[in-house]
Amino acid sequence: MKFIGKEASLEIPGPRVHLRLISQQETELIRQWRNQDHIRVWFKYSEIISQDEQQVWWEGYQQRHNDLMFIIWQQAQARPVGTVALYHIDLNAGSAEFGRLIIASADDRGKGLAQEASQVLLDWARQELSLTRISLEVHLDNAPAIALYRKLGFSELGSCGQFLKMEVRFPPGQPG
Ligand SMILES: CC(C)(COP(=O)(O)OP(=O)(O)OC[C@H]1O[C@@H](n2cnc3c(N)ncnc32)[C@H](O)[C@@H]1OP(=O)(O)O)[C@@H](O)C(=O)NCCC(=O)NCCS
Repeated sequence: MKFIGKEASLEIPGPRVHLRLISQQETELIRQWRNQDHIRVWFKYSEIISQDEQQVWWEGYQQRHNDLMFIIWQQAQARPVGTVALYHIDLNAGSAEFGRLIIASADDRGKGLAQEASQVLLDWARQELSLTRISLEVHLDNAPAIALYRKLGFSELGSCGQFLKMEVRFPPGQPG
């Protein structure tokens, strides 16, 4: 089993946003974003998350070497606008799951920030981790997210309960 280091310096640059691994000081901000009703309804675990539960999650996250969660930074105003993650990363199989995608404020939506952040992360996963298959699950009623994932190249595999499974495959040996 190969492991991925969670170096605090890990940053992935893009034209308008860059991705930076989350730090403990951002866990409360992320909890508040995630607890908004219009965001949590789209998550598999959609209950309100307490500070204690968030702390337990953070401690587990630090131990997991197959889970990378990023803050999406909007570069021009140097401020955090959301999150995105790759988890269940399996370097031997060349696969991972994509998720925890949030653009927190309505003011920041519809400007292409989620699309850019997602593309930057997928390109990095392909080039730096040599991943060839990335999958996700999205609520069947989450039309904006499904449209975004289609634009990113994900195709539908079928549904499981209220969730649609999607995946994108990259040909091995061909850097993006
Ligand atoms: C889904 C979400 C991340 C999109 O963020 P965003 O920054 O507004 O998305 P973008 O501006 O990058 O949009 C990219 C594409 O996504 C699709 N899209 C985004 N918002 C949409 C909407 N309201 N209706 C339909 N399609 C939409 C479109 O295809 C869009 O491309 P276009 O502008 O050329 O039509 C955001 O709405 C969000 O945080 N939602 C709540 C959390 C959530 O649902 N996360 C996904 C869980 S799987």
